[in-house]
Amino acid sequence: MISVKTIDNELVFTLFTNSSSYQMKADKYGVLLHLYYGRPIINGDNLSDLIFLSDMGFSGNPPCAGKDRTYSLDTLPQEVSGFGIGDYRDSMVSLLHDDGSRAAEFRYDSFEIVDSSYKIDGMPALYDTSVTKGETLIITMREAASDIVLKLYYGVYEKENVITRAAKIINKGTRRVFVEKLLSMNMDMLFFDPDIIYFTGRHAFERAPERVPVKHAKVEIGSVRGTSSHQYNPAFILCDHDANEEQGNCYGFCLAYSGNFVGAAQKDQKNQVRVQMGIHPEGFHYLLEQDEELMTPQVIMSFSGSGLSTLSQQYHDILRENMCRGKYKHEKRPVLINNWEATYFDFDREKLHDIAQQASELGIEMLVLDDGWFGKRDDDFSGLGDWFVNEKKLGGSLKEVGERVNAMGMKFGLWFEPEMISEDSDLYREHPEWAVAIPNREPNRGRYQLALDMSRADVRDYLLEKMTDILNNAPIIYVKWDLNRSICDMYSYASAQERSGELYHKYVLGVYDLLERLLERFPDLLLEGCSGGGGRFDAGMLYYSPQIWCSDNTDAINRLSIQYGTSFFYPISSFGSHVSACPNHQTGRSVPFQTRGDVAMSGSFGYELDLGKISEEEKEQVKEQVAQFHKLYDLTHEGDYYRLTPLENGDCMAWAFVAKDKKRAALTIVKTQSEGNPLPTHVYMKGLLRNRQYRCTLKNDMSVIKTGAAFINAGITIPWIMMQYESVMVLFEEI
Ligand code: GLA
Repeated sequence: MISVKTIDNELVFTLFTNSSSYQMKADKYGVLLHLYYGRPIINGDNLSDLIFLSDMGFSGNPPCAGKDRTYSLDTLPQEVSGFGIGDYRDSMVSLLHDDGSRAAEFRYDSFEIVDSSYKIDGMPALYDTSVTKGETLIITMREAASDIVLKLYYGVYEKENVITRAAKIINKGTRRVFVEKLLSMNMDMLFFDPDIIYFTGRHAFERAPERVPVKHAKVEIGSVRGTSSHQYNPAFILCDHDANEEQGNCYGFCLAYSGNFVGAAQKDQKNQVRVQMGIHPEGFHYLLEQDEELMTPQVIMSFSGSGLSTLSQQYHDILRENMCRGKYKHEKRPVLINNWEATYFDFDREKLHDIAQQASELGIEMLVLDDGWFGKRDDDFSGLGDWFVNEKKLGGSLKEVGERVNAMGMKFGLWFEPEMISEDSDLYREHPEWAVAIPNREPNRGRYQLALDMSRADVRDYLLEKMTDILNNAPIIYVKWDLNRSICDMYSYASAQERSGELYHKYVLGVYDLLERLLERFPDLLLEGCSGGGGRFDAGMLYYSPQIWCSDNTDAINRLSIQYGTSFFYPISSFGSHVSACPNHQTGRSVPFQTRGDVAMSGSFGYELDLGKISEEEKEQVKEQVAQFHKLYDLTHEGDYYRLTPLENGDCMAWAFVAKDKKRAALTIVKTQSEGNPLPTHVYMKGLLRNRQYRCTLKNDMSVIKTGAAFINAGITIPWIMMQYESVMVLFEEI
């Protein structure tokens, strides 16, 4: 619900969700002040008096304040902070005007309430469904001196406890302006002394949580890699120092964007916490001619007054329901086998046939043909961009390969890396100007390849036609959309020099445009996002691909922490997760087959190994795992997820899925450390109804019946010794 009240000549806006409230006001000078975000208040409450004005010294005063030395933009809690006008903290918006001046002084103009979610042209955003519908408050701010307009968008999702923010700048003036920085949000939180949790890492080891207190030195995460990156995920949490899974105030900030970003929190001189998120200003320089506009990506905020589990579940629900789209949003996705770790580039018709044959006999439902099926592509050095089928290598057409797979009762999927180009490719020889590179400088390579200039319509048209041709001529239901380098050497041969600072953003818009047009042509296509695994794992990509390859690291033990970190924001259904060979190709570790299955099953499940090389016993396990995955699909893909152990827990990691109706649950425990003369493995369950009876099945012939309260409060002891890396999956059913 959105409430707007005039109180003492000031406009107070309050946004209500079921368990949070957000309040701000346009004050007597038109400055939009942040008053509150947190546990619910009552409609009619006005929190203006939380702001204490005093002369802080060296915090100057805007002319409208006259002789009042206590009114300073430098100390007031704001929803929009402009550069160059006496707020010396980090700005949300910075403008370079045509006369060379830098000032961004936005004052309240008007507001509008819309009874639906807002859209962002060419970019992902939460959308309305029959289950969840948003409301939007749009506050229009104006720079009087330049007539530049800034519209602030607030989306409100009541039962999900989600509030979104985005901003649109429009040049209504007569002179051009350069936008040097435009973040999606600024918020100055009063009386809050939080920790920040962010998710960091590297290729093949993504999204490790780190938690530090927010103090006066800025904590900032971000990417200038052209993608959201392996190094920092575009999402962070602010929470009470003592907040944990079950208690404490927690605020999430998650950017629905797949390119350069920044996220930051910092205390100011009054100990107010300035929170910001949006497109990274580095390399950003955006020209707006008269009537041109620019809209930011969306920040999805959520609040939980009862700990991190609830916060995560709120994100899972809204991203699953209002960000993911298409046929496979709720429909069961096929269990797949991907040939990459089985063959790498070294495959032919027979090898593929064998993999498919074995997979179909074990109940696997789709073969995904990974890198190496096109152009001249037998290693990393060549072929990207030449999207025509290498029929010699495949021993026939892609149609034949696909039909052969279909004849075995399986579906067929294919890998692409559309945004990339190899210098050794026909495409590059024909169109060197299509690569992102600076004239008279040799471009940097990543995995020996260059990026295509996705801001160019001709590049996107080429890719769309090539992909369409391939998808039309083979029975393909799934595409893995990869991207295997970070992007630099920003320059576009297609745009004016003064627009070169727009390229990072326009690259991302180009990717979204191509994805959208491809999905328009093939609405039932299942896309799996990928960027060397989890280099572009963000809410924006979920708009196009309901699953994303979580990491190039398939080691089940490393996956415990990668999937743990990923679970804070992203639904488990979105984690591409496969059983691979041992010793593992990334770590050399050997882990029991069952554990590999139990870990991968907490995600969009598949296999990625040579089935010809596993034992008969393991083959039986594949059959059981596929059956188990189907049995648990509703839980893992639609249920509530609970982290039961912190990452640094002593000797095991445990997590659980509980059905929304609380009638079923599944708990997985993996023993991560073992010692001689082992102590029992014991965990506390969560999410069951306390006064209901559940049958808890530990093994086929081993079950106990107790109340939810007993499993939650007293926990579960595994009645056998778990050896290192062994796992167990425990099922609960209400009786
Ligand atoms: C990336 C992906 C892998 C695989 C290779 C193919 O690294 O993450 O899964 O597709 O590319 O080159």
